[in-house]
Amino acid sequence: MKYIVPAIIALTALPVMAFAAMPLMTSGDNDRGEEVYQETCIACHGADGSGALPGITPDFTAPDGPLSKSDEELMTNIIEGFQSPGSQMAMPPLGGNDDLTEEDVQAVIDYMKDEFLDD
Ligand code: HEC
Repeated sequence: MKYIVPAIIALTALPVMAFAAMPLMTSGDNDRGEEVYQETCIACHGADGSGALPGITPDFTAPDGPLSKSDEELMTNIIEGFQSPGSQMAMPPLGGNDDLTEEDVQAVIDYMKDEFLDD
């Protein structure tokens, strides 16, 4: 009897703890991604991701657009900046915000893919 009660408590507590932790972790990441986007990217890329500078910023909502690239490629292009051949304006490194970390960039990539691509 001595070991049964703690064992039952442990077994019932585990799933409860797992469920409690999950929404915290996912919403934390998405909140950060949204925050980064609103603070740094929205001016050029627009609230709906279709681009605030017509003919200059790409359409993130296009299924074959920039967000169809891999996370790795987007990560490099966002961190180092990016200019496609013949384009009138380059994407500035980190959108011009040197305070962004690699985690922030990953969070904003996740946010943009969730928000602007419907797959
Ligand atoms: C000053 C304007 C400006 C800001 C701020 C800006 N961008 Fe850009 N971004 C651009 C332009 C212009 C392009 C297109 C460059 C080209 O195709 O030559 C671009 C392209 C991109 C691309 C496509 C890259 C590819 O591989 O095709 C991604 C992804 C991107 N931006 C993400 C971001 C994110 C994330 C932020 C915020 C951290 C941000 N941008 C902030 C102007 C901006």
